[in-house]
Amino acid sequence: MENWLYCGDNIEVLEKEIEKESVDLIYIDPPFFSNRHYEVIWKDEAEIRSFEDRWEGGIENYIAWMRPRIEAMYKVLKPTGSFYLHCDWHANAHLRIMMDEIFGRNNFRNEIIWWYLWGGRAKKQWSRKHDYILFYSKSDKWTFNYLEVLEGHHLISESAKSRVKYKGALVHHREGQNSEIPKDKVLPSDTWYIPVINAMAKERLGYPTQKPEFLLERIIKASSNKGDVVLDAFCGCGTAMAVAHRLKRKWLGIDISPTAVKLVEKRLRKSGAVKDEHYKTTGLPTTEKDLRKLKPFEFQNWVMDEMGATVSRRKSGDMGIDGHLSKTLWHERAGIQVKQSDKIGRNVVDNFETALRRDNYKQGYIIAFSFGKGANEEVARLKNKGELEIKLIPVQELLDKKKTLLK
Ligand SMILES: C[S@@+](CC[C@H](N)C(=O)[O-])C[C@H]1O[C@@H](n2cnc3c(N)ncnc32)[C@H](O)[C@@H]1O
Repeated sequence: MENWLYCGDNIEVLEKEIEKESVDLIYIDPPFFSNRHYEVIWKDEAEIRSFEDRWEGGIENYIAWMRPRIEAMYKVLKPTGSFYLHCDWHANAHLRIMMDEIFGRNNFRNEIIWWYLWGGRAKKQWSRKHDYILFYSKSDKWTFNYLEVLEGHHLISESAKSRVKYKGALVHHREGQNSEIPKDKVLPSDTWYIPVINAMAKERLGYPTQKPEFLLERIIKASSNKGDVVLDAFCGCGTAMAVAHRLKRKWLGIDISPTAVKLVEKRLRKSGAVKDEHYKTTGLPTTEKDLRKLKPFEFQNWVMDEMGATVSRRKSGDMGIDGHLSKTLWHERAGIQVKQSDKIGRNVVDNFETALRRDNYKQGYIIAFSFGKGANEEVARLKNKGELEIKLIPVQELLDKKKTLLK
């Protein structure tokens, strides 16, 4: 089997594309029940990365949405497979009961506590400093490479308290006289201290809720072998894929967001270890119809990506500049406005002209599905005046890549 990246709703992909009982390890980190909406401006590339994490109608709706998805994942898991479900206090109890029902209580293996120091502190209750990772096997046979994930100083040296715990574990270990385990290591436990990705971390991509590679490394090393298939059906910016590839596992990644999937592609290629021929991507928008269905920020990200442009830091949708192209040898610095609509009129061009002048641009592009006569006339008038040039780009043109925009 090849490595695949799928852009789409995981339930459809799992049912249509992935063979039953073909996957050795599943890790998922689904959006939580937390009424948050992330829209994050990237530090480095100033692009908007976003995903929704919002559930209307309460926890029952959330579980009703999750259940058929987990059932579809259960079907693609091999009888010897393992499943890790990453969650936090919002839905932990409800997901645990649902997982017991699907996998059987006997197949519950662990509730791993991933704890960290990051984030604010509360004065009225205990500050929340951990996530849960529910670990299930599909049957009474599963892989657990404990020698690959022995615990040493890197996991437990961060706080004085855990050092004490570590000493206790070592004493116990010596009593056991287990020679395959080095003296300075202990068998792994279900509480993991791993720092969250900090603002300066090399692996940081800026994707909200990006998980540390070290966390995935422990899961993949313990619960799969080289050549096994690892699936992440809510893959976000692809942490599981990047680690699986590095550890010589095969992998399948699914995400509903084209922004996320494009980002995974970039991440994999950037590492140098993953080349285009190592994987295939499917499900990204390829037609006008697909693009019309995208959420506005997804559409905007798609356009900017196609144009090699950068999303503006300023809040989008303010009638201003949604993104820009920097000046290069081949083209001037230019402002970009994106409209996910048809028959763009004269007023849009007028407003864009004002925004361009305000920010000292001499060139601009408006991207939309189609343009009205008024818009074209206004653009021609501006061109004749010679001060400012605005080009109207139909989306189809980007799709066809017929014109080189940067000429
Ligand atoms: C919490 S994030 C995962 C972050 C990931 N673990 C990482 O390290 O980057 C959840 C992801 O689930 C995706 N998602 C939400 N609904 C989905 C669905 N129905 N099918 C596939 N992906 C979905 C979102 O687009 C988002 O990227």
